[in-house]
Amino acid sequence: MDLDKVIGERRSVRAFLPNEVPRDTLRSIFERAQRAPSWCNIQPWRAFVASGEVRERLTTAIAREAREGAPRPDVPFPVDYPEPYGSHRRACGRALYEAMGVERHDSEARQRAWLRNFVAFDAPHVVICGIDRRFELWAALDVGCWLQTLLLLATSEGVATCAQASLSLYPDIAREILGIPEEVKVLFGIAMGYEDTSAAANRCRTARDHAEINVTFRG
Ligand SMILES: Cc1cc2nc3c(=O)[nH]c(=O)nc-3n(C[C@H](O)[C@H](O)[C@H](O)COP(=O)(O)O)c2cc1C
Repeated sequence: MDLDKVIGERRSVRAFLPNEVPRDTLRSIFERAQRAPSWCNIQPWRAFVASGEVRERLTTAIAREAREGAPRPDVPFPVDYPEPYGSHRRACGRALYEAMGVERHDSEARQRAWLRNFVAFDAPHVVICGIDRRFELWAALDVGCWLQTLLLLATSEGVATCAQASLSLYPDIAREILGIPEEVKVLFGIAMGYEDTSAAANRCRTARDHAEINVTFRG
């Protein structure tokens, strides 16, 4: 697929069909994503792909904890979103809730929608991603490069994804079930599978500012 087309088609998908992606396709996506650039080529991303019964155990445990336990991420979430970020964040939530037909003040429906995160929107594959905790911010940049490379490769293979910081809120559970070593800091998860095109949540579309807001040309 043409790169512009892949970039344009990639979006966060939040409802999946139950059928698994063939293991060869998954392996090929992860293999090719290894070409992502990184600081001194250290390749610090670490990914744990849960499928089948393991995936089931993982999301069951995380979903239970999301209902009952306090979040305890390895990397705390931002608390304040000053402008213009606050507006972007609200627009993102609004787009999703509108697509799902959830009213702004219906806190129960919003809570139900939020809890869908912890079953990874029923995706058949759940990837828990992290970095070696000794590298901090620089390694996070590398993981960002890897993440987008992976998401685009998945899109080009017809595999839908949603990056999910929410899946990092209970890292001890992922650590235990997936055998994630202590030196790996859990950063986010990725839901992976085939899009359920009939689901209302997947009608959500997000906008972007023009580059002149983010990019300054001089000279
Ligand atoms: C690191 C990262 C974490 C994210 N975490 C979540 C999440 O926990 N739940 C969710 O529904 N979407 C999550 N998203 C998806 C964003 O909301 C989404 O990328 C953004 O709104 C732009 O929409 P698009 O991906 O459809 O273009 C995350 C995206 C990234 C890159």
